[in-house]
Amino acid sequence: MSGGITPQLAGVIGWPVHHSLSPLMHGYWLKQYDIKGAYVPLPVAPQDFGRCVAAMPLMGFAGANVTVPHKEAAFALAATLDEDARATGAVNTLVFEDGVVHGRNTDVRGFAASLAESLGEDAAKRGPVAVLGAGGAARAVLIALARAGAREIRIVNRTKERAENLARAFAQSSNIRTMAWGDWAGALGGAKLLVNTTSLGMTGKAPLDVSLEELPREAAVADIVYNPLETALLRAARERGARTMDGLGMLMHQAVPAFAAWFGVTPKVTPELRDVLVKALARA
Ligand code: ATR
Repeated sequence: MSGGITPQLAGVIGWPVHHSLSPLMHGYWLKQYDIKGAYVPLPVAPQDFGRCVAAMPLMGFAGANVTVPHKEAAFALAATLDEDARATGAVNTLVFEDGVVHGRNTDVRGFAASLAESLGEDAAKRGPVAVLGAGGAARAVLIALARAGAREIRIVNRTKERAENLARAFAQSSNIRTMAWGDWAGALGGAKLLVNTTSLGMTGKAPLDVSLEELPREAAVADIVYNPLETALLRAARERGARTMDGLGMLMHQAVPAFAAWFGVTPKVTPELRDVLVKALARA
C-alpha cells in the first residue's frame, strides 16, 4: 500500500540484529517512495520466535525479514512456501496476508540479480564455477548458479560430507564435483568464476585463506560478505586484475521483492542507495 492512511509496518527479526543494514535500506525506500510506513529491527531470541511472529499481524505488520538464526524456524512455521524457500529449506521473508503466514526466500533472486548486474548475464556460463562453502548461503547461491546456466560447479568445503550432500541435491541440474578445502589448484584451475559463500573474511570472523595462484586471469570473483566491502579475497582478486562482485549487491537485490510484497511498490537498486549503505558500513 502506498501513501494510505494506515501505516504499514515491517521489520527484520534476528538475534542479534543491531548490525543489520535492512532498516536503513527499507527506510530509504519508504522515504523515497513517500510511503507512510516503518521498518524496524526486532531482536527476538530463538525460544520466542514463534510467539513473536504470531503476534506481529495483530500489531499491523505486513511482514518481516528473517535472519540468523531464524531462517529454518521461519521455514518450519510458514503456512505456504515459495519455490525458492522449498529449494533452500530456509525463509528470509515473511508476508502476512489475511491471517496466513507466507514464507519466501529472496536470497536466490538477490544473488542472481547481483551476479547479472555486476559480472554479466553470462557470468555463470563462461566455464567452471568454484563455490566455497556448503551452508545455507551456498545452497541459495548454487540454485542461482544452476538457474543461470552453470554447467560445471566445484564445491569446496571444510566438511566433506556437507559438500557431498549439497552436490547430491544439484546432481540433476549441473555437473557437480566436490573438492577438499585447501585443494586450491584443483578447485580454481580453469575456473571462470569463484564465489565465496562462507562468512570467512567478514569483520570479526577468521580470515579466508585462499591461494588464487591457479585461478585464470580472466576469471571473476564474487564474495557474499559485505563487511568489509572489499574483503581480502576481493582485494587479492582485484590486484590480479580480476573483475569482482561484493556482497552489497545481493543484500540490496534480496530486499526488492520483500519491499514490493509489503509496501506495494517495486523499489529500485541505485548507486545512491549503495552509497547510503557504504557510508553506514564505514561508520559502523
Ligand atoms: P550459512 O547458513 O551462513 O551459510 P553455515 O551453514 O554455518 O552458515 O555455513 C558456513 C560455511 O562456512 C560452511 O561451509 C562452513 O564449513 P563447514 O561445513 O565445514 O562447517 C564454512 N566455514 C565456517 N568456518 C570455517 C573455517 N574456519 N574454515 C573453513 N570453512 C569454514
